Amino acid sequence: MIQFLLNQELRSEHALDPNLTVLNYLREHVGKSGTKEGCASGDCGACTVVVGELQTDDAGREHIRYRSLNSCLTFVSSLHGKQLISVEDLKHKGELHSVQKAMVECHGSQCGFCTPGFVMSLFALQKNSDAPDHAKAHEALAGNLCRCTGYRPILAAAEQSCCGKQPDQFDAREAETIARLKAIAPTDIGELNSGDKRCLVPLTVADLADLYDAYPQARLLAGGTDLALEVTQFHRTLPVMIYVGNVAEMKRIDTFEDRIEIGAATALSDCYEALNAEYPDFGELLHRFASLQIRNQGTLGGNIGNASPIGDSPPLLIALGAQVVLCKGETRRTLNLEDYFIDYKVTARQESEFIEKIIVPRASAEQLFRAYKVSKRLDDDISAVCAAFNLRVENGVITDARMAFGGMAAIPKRAAHCEAALIGAPFTNTVVERACAALAEDFTPLSDFRASKEYRLLSAQNLLRKYFIELQTPHIETRVTAYV
Ligand SMILES: Cc1cc2nc3c(=O)[nH]c(=O)nc-3n(C[C@H](O)[C@H](O)[C@H](O)COP(=O)(O)OP(=O)(O)OC[C@H]3O[C@@H](n4cnc5c(N)ncnc54)[C@H](O)[C@@H]3O)c2cc1C
Ligand code: FES
Ligand code: FES
Repeated sequence: MIQFLLNQELRSEHALDPNLTVLNYLREHVGKSGTKEGCASGDCGACTVVVGELQTDDAGREHIRYRSLNSCLTFVSSLHGKQLISVEDLKHKGELHSVQKAMVECHGSQCGFCTPGFVMSLFALQKNSDAPDHAKAHEALAGNLCRCTGYRPILAAAEQSCCGKQPDQFDAREAETIARLKAIAPTDIGELNSGDKRCLVPLTVADLADLYDAYPQARLLAGGTDLALEVTQFHRTLPVMIYVGNVAEMKRIDTFEDRIEIGAATALSDCYEALNAEYPDFGELLHRFASLQIRNQGTLGGNIGNASPIGDSPPLLIALGAQVVLCKGETRRTLNLEDYFIDYKVTARQESEFIEKIIVPRASAEQLFRAYKVSKRLDDDISAVCAAFNLRVENGVITDARMAFGGMAAIPKRAAHCEAALIGAPFTNTVVERACAALAEDFTPLSDFRASKEYRLLSAQNLLRKYFIELQTPHIETRVTAYV
């Protein structure tokens, strides 16, 4: 059985198809059709809901953390122990919520199709921010598409509803909701099943390892932002899933003197602070990673686990010399991330083995790390090419080079010829040009709807040139990772 709060109502579910998304659960099982389906692929934000989770801050104070998610990519099993808030829950005692009023007063709503999603993103923004600046409002809304009213009035609604906000019914009931969430906090493995289909929800790494051993054919479910597409876009059925998002040990970030250890089930938005502090380019890339909704549910482990050639974090992690800790039963092994990817969607992971954590070395003063993402849109778009460069230059000579790319091969990959052209040479324009030429030996990229092979290779070479110029002229702030 799994349990969660549907706003304030306790729901206990066990006999549900684990392939059921929260969107379809709301619309078809509980008759709440305010949440809309636009794309069913995480691109439009019409299906945005807010999920509340019990958290304890550094001072030991319990509170509820509210986050926007795309309900079209969220399976119901991942709600276990949480609070689900949909657009119907905002109106209280006949009064619109302040974010809804702001949308009306600022003329931010026209078609009613995208509006519930915008309202829920604004609600999450209001819960997490007292006075959002333009950048914060933009970030909160970048995953919501509107084709008619335009974004200016919606941004105005963001400002109106967040600045000088008054407590709402959720604030008034916070203590009560915390008590209810504590009462349903999972204490054992949860399960949702229907016939032969099941989703298991372990709470510990040991239970996860045992379950994966017992069900080696199971699909691991983290944020579901890739996995759910198999159901919503390809109409497949996933008969057995194991949800890793309630395994607390895999949601930790621990910082040591020489490394940061990030649990594989840590949401991408939770990785931001630690990675941005160490490597600002990593932070910048995470800002450009999908939308806030996707980053709130998608995980670092899932971005590696799906082994996509265009996943954004692997090239950066490879360039930084990151490792993955793989766990199977009681056995653990640590692998350099570059050795994890073997061929298109083929990895070094064995049966019943899972990624437990990712180890990222701390930054050092000699490292010249930069990362770049080339995509057609600034927000909510997947890379055509992603590049990460990490040189060590001592007395003008390159002593180490880790140059990794996404979108250039069947796997995220280091550029061995390019690195060889750099190591031991002075960091000059001539050497960089030689390294650019060597990239043609490293990669034979594909053409697809994101970019032609010629465009990809030229972009990779130009990014290396850009990196060189930026390092020669550090006062030029061209490091923004935006390209069209
Ligand atoms: C609209 C949209 C935009 C996107 N934009 C980007 C983008 O800009 N950049 C980018 O890189 N990606 C993007 N993605 C892809 C996706 O969001 C990321 O790959 C995300 O990190 C996946 O994480 P998840 O937790 O949702 O993984 P899931 O979907 O839960 O899982 C993905 C795969 O990893 C496996 N897996 C999960 N956890 C583990 C584990 N601990 N050990 C082993 N295997 C595991 C799963 O079994 C599955 O095969 C986008 C997706 C969408 C829908
Ligand atoms: S329906 Fe478009 S993001 Fe979910
Ligand atoms: S008001 Fe709905 S698409 Fe713009």
